[in-house]
Amino acid sequence: MSQSHSSWLNCRVKYEEKIQMYGLVNQAVQDLVVTKFGEKSWQDVLERSGVKETQFISSQSYPDQTTYDLATAASEVLGISLKDVLIAFGEWWVLDTAQKKYGHLLKSGGPTLRDFLLYLPRFHSSVEIIYPDLKPPEFEVEEAAPGHIILHYFSDRPGLTWFVYGLIQGLGAFHSVEVTIEIRDYKDHGADHDVFIIRWDQNPG
Ligand code: HEM
Repeated sequence: MSQSHSSWLNCRVKYEEKIQMYGLVNQAVQDLVVTKFGEKSWQDVLERSGVKETQFISSQSYPDQTTYDLATAASEVLGISLKDVLIAFGEWWVLDTAQKKYGHLLKSGGPTLRDFLLYLPRFHSSVEIIYPDLKPPEFEVEEAAPGHIILHYFSDRPGLTWFVYGLIQGLGAFHSVEVTIEIRDYKDHGADHDVFIIRWDQNPG
């Protein structure tokens, strides 16, 4: 069992009912599975997860555990590690969900990857205008050098390191930049919070 998987399970009691997430996240998991693997696979994921809902409403809140159960079931049904499910979901979130449904918000983050990453600590305050009960992530950003940013990610939610990794890859692709990402500190391995070292070529080609 992977570290992040066991961390989710350990946190089950604490998180089961308390923290909730808007349904657009579960909708995006559904879109990803249906688009890449087909409707039948999604039905298998739903059944395996034990989640009772068959449709999610974007503006309604669901326990975090629902989302974690869907991701775990997707990993088991599709035969993909949980890490790879989370990375794929992060990329999908930026390149499909955010781009199609919240393109104006994504653009408001700035015209370049650098601008977007520097704005990230404040990004979800725009999202809160649409989703007022949002429990957003917290970010801190340090610009170490041109094309070199250190991103600190804080959250009460466990096990989302690889989701953030996928989000950063998606943001790179959105801005047509090839990023390399190193995880310097890993919360699931005992660090205070996750720290990502992000690098990209300032003058590609
Ligand atoms: C337009 C785009 C976006 C929208 C509409 C959006 C919305 C949301 C929503 C609804 C949640 C679930 C939290 C809740 O319901 O309480 C969430 C969580 C999260 N978002 Fe965004 N988001 C967007 C873009 C991004 C981007 C670009 C990042 C980049 C790193 C990001 C990072 C995260 C993370 C890490 C979480 C997990 C929450 C946690 O750590 O506690 N989001 N977002």
